[in-house]
Amino acid sequence: MLENVSKHYPLVKFTALDDVSLKIDSGEWVFLVGASGMGKTTLLKLLYREELADEGHVSIGGKDVARMSGSRLRRTMGIIFQTYRLLDKKTAFENIAYGAEVLAMPPVEVRKRTREILELVGLDNKASRLPGELSGGEQQRVAIGRALINRPQLILADEPTGDLDPQNSNRVIEILDTVHREHNVTVLFATHAVDIVDRLQRRVVRLQNGRIVSDTVGGYWSGSEASAQ
Ligand SMILES: Nc1ncnc2c1ncn2[C@@H]1O[C@H](COP(=O)(O)OP(=O)(O)OP(=O)(O)O)[C@@H](O)[C@H]1O
Ligand SMILES: [Mg+2]
Repeated sequence: MLENVSKHYPLVKFTALDDVSLKIDSGEWVFLVGASGMGKTTLLKLLYREELADEGHVSIGGKDVARMSGSRLRRTMGIIFQTYRLLDKKTAFENIAYGAEVLAMPPVEVRKRTREILELVGLDNKASRLPGELSGGEQQRVAIGRALINRPQLILADEPTGDLDPQNSNRVIEILDTVHREHNVTVLFATHAVDIVDRLQRRVVRLQNGRIVSDTVGGYWSGSEASAQ
């Protein structure tokens, strides 16, 4: 949840978010849309504490993120980026398992979960490939697997289909939708993909110049303010 949040980038004298308030219920799926530079990534960064708000409060599950350690906070959520950011010397299996290993989860449990996730993302036959030996769509599915290993209640996705063709985009959406529906995981999904937003017909929050200009349920252009853009 964000309450009256503003974020300035002082070096460039720019206000990226301006008095933004947004409440997302547990188990919701929310698309964050808006043209390039309107503040989507900044909003997500505030939630995973890559940046701190200059004004207002950012909280998750009632806890103020400013009072939590960034690394501990990030372990409770799954974060997916447009560029996959995998460890290039680790296999698909190892990339997914890594987030659980650093939490000192018993190795038997890590292996069990990793195998389940590889199956979920459709990569059980490519578990021992390095990222460089996988297609972009496959690498993004490894990145999703990595985001799911600690069974997060919240997934933050920043244009996760931005570099993918329609078929791979659909697979990414299917996987995220499965965990959203089956495990009631909250998803905040920043995207430019009009077709995906139109097809899923979910809550759509639109940012324009660092402000929320519409918050509606439906397709990409369903908000009245949005059509004025
Ligand atoms: N570290 C930074 N320092 C200075 N300005 C920044 C920084 N990060 C972002 N900005 C500026 O803040 C504004 C919002 O950026 P942000 O990355 O949140 O946009 P976005 O909506 O995610 O855009 P895109 O769709 O292109 O990813 C932009 O004008 C950007 O130039
Ligand atoms: Mg962005």
